[in-house]
Amino acid sequence: MEFTNKPFCSNPKISRVSKSFYVTTPIFYVNDAPHIGHAYTEVASDVLARWHRARQENSFLLTGTDEHGEKVLRTALGNHTDPKSWTDKLVNESWLPLLETIDIDNQDFIRTTEPRHEVAVQKFLQKLYDTGFIYQGSFVGNYCVGCEEYKNESDLIDGTGEFAGVSVCAIHSKPVEQLNETNYFFRLSEFQQRLLDLYESNPTFVQPESARNEVVSFVRSGLSDLSISRSKERFDWGIDIPWDKDHITYVWFDALLNYITAIGYGSDEEKLASLWPADVQVVGKDILRFHAVIWPAMLMAAELEPPKQVFGHGWLLVGGEKMSKSKLTGIAPTQITDAFGADAFRYYFMKAIGFGSDGSFSWEDLSARYNSELANGFGNLASRTIAMTNRYFQGEIQGPKNYTEADLQIQNVAKLAVDGANAAIDKIAIHEAISKIWTLVDELNGYITTQEPWVLAKDEANRGRLGTVLYTASEGLRVLAVLLNPVMPKAAQKLWSALASDLGSLETQNLNDAGSWGQLKPGQMMQELEALFPRVEEQ
Ligand code: ME8
Ligand code: MG
Repeated sequence: MEFTNKPFCSNPKISRVSKSFYVTTPIFYVNDAPHIGHAYTEVASDVLARWHRARQENSFLLTGTDEHGEKVLRTALGNHTDPKSWTDKLVNESWLPLLETIDIDNQDFIRTTEPRHEVAVQKFLQKLYDTGFIYQGSFVGNYCVGCEEYKNESDLIDGTGEFAGVSVCAIHSKPVEQLNETNYFFRLSEFQQRLLDLYESNPTFVQPESARNEVVSFVRSGLSDLSISRSKERFDWGIDIPWDKDHITYVWFDALLNYITAIGYGSDEEKLASLWPADVQVVGKDILRFHAVIWPAMLMAAELEPPKQVFGHGWLLVGGEKMSKSKLTGIAPTQITDAFGADAFRYYFMKAIGFGSDGSFSWEDLSARYNSELANGFGNLASRTIAMTNRYFQGEIQGPKNYTEADLQIQNVAKLAVDGANAAIDKIAIHEAISKIWTLVDELNGYITTQEPWVLAKDEANRGRLGTVLYTASEGLRVLAVLLNPVMPKAAQKLWSALASDLGSLETQNLNDAGSWGQLKPGQMMQELEALFPRVEEQ
């Protein structure tokens, strides 16, 4: 027998890895550059990840690109290049820069063409083949390349214009293609009851509620097995089926696996255990079924846990229709950030559209909210509070004297804002979290108006009261900097640097404790505040 002095828990079977908060975005097709719909999903997921980080949890955001399949292949060929060059170019010139444009703090970025992904997908396929969940069969069906999906008759509508007289996909308005192939099938039909049990035992597995109901009734109506391979005779841009090199893997089967191949499936079990199951997988409602039906069934077949939640958000609409790459209705995120900045982009989309509902973007609404809520509401509150402390007390934070009712009311609203915003984030109601935060912005603006520090400043006898009022307003701003950091990281950082750099970095502040009053230390110095939301010239 061998003696070791390793501690008991170093045995990997016994040690418990601490679980991080894990949030994912879909991986996007690189058939074109991103528009604000993709940026919307990224921002929402990033706000959730940053929020948990602000609670001092380990928080991991994964995003990436979906690069295989017929749609991407055809676009590459249509642009007179090969799919590898095409995807490399788009990822480097458009998709990675998007993350900078809108300030995404992702911990990893996965491309489905990377070896780490391809190898792990093959391991997964082989496991399901060996355990009998994959079999060979043949199939005739109507395929929509835009959706990368077989369509039922009920998914088709009558074409118009150049496609009059033929059936077209209801989403893409383009004809479907009849496919007749021998390929491999995943026994999805066997998972009907286990999926229904999952929706029942974890009632928030699919959110929002309307999406959940749709998924439950879809699964109740019965599931067919899923074709998960394509013959190379048809096209060859995908991951080889490991036991049959004449076939490649269906793009959705390949793509869904990114959520685990990126975090060590098949290569780093400890990392996988520290992140999986994901806490929330954010997707648009267009791809909810893939994530709420096929994906958990794939995981069950491989004896892995399903994610804790799949959230299907609404669509950004243009003229009442979903903004889309294929219909060329996309607005580039830089069009907005060049004029208003990343913070305003993030704030606007998270606040103006109830998360889970559809919404229409308009320049007028964006510009009105920028001026009233950001520049005048929050920005002005911060600049005048700090400016008055600089002017009346040379920047020195004053010790508060006797608190009045009005001061105590601010303390109370601050605490309620922290608790309310935290609770809203836990149910993925991002718009509601921001509304809760804004109760404090509005309360503080009202407070300054009624307390009139500029009047107090005129009489030396009111020095103590003036100090208390500015201390109260500054403490409110401290709370706001912490709460807004996940939503508007640039503005929050500027505010923190001016207000509270003596308290250590903004990142080390625990959001859960932000509402406990009196953290700014009397005697410490404030700095000048950089303009948070500069005026935007009318175009
Ligand atoms: O479906 N409004 O990729 P995709 C809101 N590769 N969100 C929108 C949007 C809009 N108008 N348009 C797009 C795919 N989105 C697959 C996913 S995941 C394993 C594979 C966002 O490029 C939204 O998140 O078509 C939607 O679900 C996603 O982009 C679809 O991106
Ligand atoms: Mg799409």
